[in-house]
Amino acid sequence: MSESPLPIPPRPVRFHYQGREQQVSGQPPTTTVLQWLRDHAHCTGTKEGCAEGDCGACTVVVGEINAQGQWTQKTVNSCIQFLPTLDGKALLTVEDVAQGHQLHPCQQAMVDCHGSQCGFCTPGFVMSLWHVYQTHEQPLPRPALADALAGNLCRCTGYRPILDAGEKMFEAPRVLPDHQDTIAALKSWSQQANQPFMYVGPSQVHGGQAQRFVSPTTLDELAYWREQWPHARLLAGGTDVGLWVTKQFKDLGDIIYLGQVRALTDIHRSATQWEIGAGVSLETAWQALVELEPHLKEIWLRFASPPVRHAGTLGGNVANGSPIGDGAPVLLALNASLVLRKGAKTREVPLTAFYLDYMKNLLEPGEWLQSIRVPVPDPTQPEVRRAYKISKRRDSDISAVCGAFTLRFDGDTISEARLAWGGLAATAKRSAQAEAALLGRAWSEGTLRLAQAALQQDFTPLTDLRASDRYRLRVATNLLERFWLETRLPNPLQAEQVQVWPPVVTGAQP
Ligand SMILES: Cc1cc2nc3c(=O)[nH]c(=O)nc-3n(C[C@H](O)[C@H](O)[C@H](O)COP(=O)(O)OP(=O)(O)OC[C@H]3O[C@@H](n4cnc5c(N)ncnc54)[C@H](O)[C@@H]3O)c2cc1C
Ligand code: FES
Ligand code: FES
Repeated sequence: MSESPLPIPPRPVRFHYQGREQQVSGQPPTTTVLQWLRDHAHCTGTKEGCAEGDCGACTVVVGEINAQGQWTQKTVNSCIQFLPTLDGKALLTVEDVAQGHQLHPCQQAMVDCHGSQCGFCTPGFVMSLWHVYQTHEQPLPRPALADALAGNLCRCTGYRPILDAGEKMFEAPRVLPDHQDTIAALKSWSQQANQPFMYVGPSQVHGGQAQRFVSPTTLDELAYWREQWPHARLLAGGTDVGLWVTKQFKDLGDIIYLGQVRALTDIHRSATQWEIGAGVSLETAWQALVELEPHLKEIWLRFASPPVRHAGTLGGNVANGSPIGDGAPVLLALNASLVLRKGAKTREVPLTAFYLDYMKNLLEPGEWLQSIRVPVPDPTQPEVRRAYKISKRRDSDISAVCGAFTLRFDGDTISEARLAWGGLAATAKRSAQAEAALLGRAWSEGTLRLAQAALQQDFTPLTDLRASDRYRLRVATNLLERFWLETRLPNPLQAEQVQVWPPVVTGAQP
C-alpha cells in the first residue's frame, strides 16, 4: 500500500464568483453547479433544459490557473458538474458578461441579428459565444463557429441568426473582460491548489452517513485514497457520472475526484509511443490523436460537444466502457494499451483485454487507470487508418455504430488488420473473422467482399432505440466499403466524396 499522506481536515468548497470568494458547506457533494447557482445563489440567468449535458442552456465558463501559472478558461455544462469540482477555480456566468448596462458585443450581436425568440437557450449561447470571443481575435469560419456552438440547442430561432451574431460580434470595438482580480485571487490560493482537499456533506442527506468528497493532487495520493476507499466512486469529468445523479438519482457514496491530479493530465511523446494521462480532457486528447492520425478529425469534432469535451476525459471514456462509446474503437484500431495502477504497482494491459463484458472491465478493487499508451505508426511500414461515426444527428449525438480501422501493408498484401467497432456488441470489440479474411491478401474489391461476408459472423448486434440489429450490421458492412473506397489503389476517393456531412474545416478549434 502507498505511504499514508497527512490526514485532510474537511473544509468548505472555495471558489471565486461575482468578484468575491464564495465558501459553500452544508450541501451534498453531488449538488450541481447549476443547482447552487439557481437555488442557493439565486442567480437564475443560467437555465436548466435537459439536466444531462445535451442542450447547453446551462453553459457556464470555468477559469483556473494552469500548471504553467497561466489563466485558462473553458465552457462546461453546469447541470452535470458537481460543486466541489469548482474548488480553487473561478465560475463565470451570463451575469458576468455585460459591463453594467453595456451589453457585451456577443450579446449586442444576438440582439441585432435577432438571435433570440423565447430566450431560453440564449444565456447558454451567449456563454459559448463569449468563450469564442475571448479565445479568438478573428471571426471563425462559419463551419468552425457551428462546431463551437454544437453543444447549444435552440428550438425557436433557427441557427442562422445565431451564427450571424457569432460573426458580427467581432465587428464592434474589441472588449476583453478584465480577469485580473479573479486571477490574483486564484493565485493567492495556489498553495491550496497543491494540497489535497476534503469536503463532507451533511449526514442527514446520505442515509445518516456523511458523503465524503476527496480530491488528491498527486498520483501517490490518488493511489493511497483508492486503496483506502475501494468502495468509492472515481469522478473525472463527470460527463457520465453526473447523469447517474441528475437522471438516475443514484447515490454515489464517497467520491474520489481526479480533476486536481495534475500528473494525470500529462501527455508524454516519444518516437515510438504517446502516453496520454487518463485525466487529459477529451478536447486535448483528441487533438493529440489527430496529430497522430489526421483522419480522426471528424470524429473528434463529432464527439459530444465542446463543453462536454472540455470537462470529460479520455480515461473516463475508456474506463466507463460504454459499448457505444467512440474512444474505445478508435484506440483499439490504434493498438492502444492501458497503464493500470494499484498502490505503487502498475501493469500494462492491451486495450483488447480490458473489457470483460457489458460495462465490466479488468480493474481490481483499489485499481485505476493511469494512462493510455498509443504506439506511433512506423513510417517504414505503410498503413491506412480511418474512423467513422454513424449517429442520427451530426453534432453531439451518441453513435449507433462507430467503426475504426487500420491496415498495414507488406508490399501489396495486408500484413496486419485491426477493425474495431462500437455499437455491435456488449463492449467495443475487434472483428476477428473479418480481420482474418483480410490477412495475406491484396486490398482489392474481392478482399473487401470476403471481409464483409466474414463480418456477418463476427457480431449479433442488439436492437434498441438508436438502431435495429439489421441496420447496425448493414451500416458496419457499408463502412468497410467506404473504407475501401477511400483507401483503394488506384483511384482512392476523397472523404468528401463518400460522406453526407459538409467537409470538416481545418483551422481554429472550438
Ligand atoms: C451530452 C453528452 C454527449 C456525449 N457524447 C459522447 C460521444 O459522442 N461519444 C462518447 O464516447 N461518449 C459521449 N459521452 C459520454 C462521456 O462524455 C464520455 O464517456 C466521457 O469521456 C467520460 O469521461 P469523464 O471524465 O466525464 O468520466 P466520468 O463521468 O467522471 O467517469 C466515467 C466512469 O469512468 C470511471 N473513471 C473515470 N476516470 C477513471 C480512471 N482514471 N480510472 C478508473 N476509472 C475511472 C468513473 O468512476 C466512472 O465509472 C457524452 C456525454 C454527454 C453528457
Ligand atoms: S441543462 Fe441541458 S446541458 Fe445542462
Ligand atoms: S430562442 Fe427559444 S429555444 Fe432558442
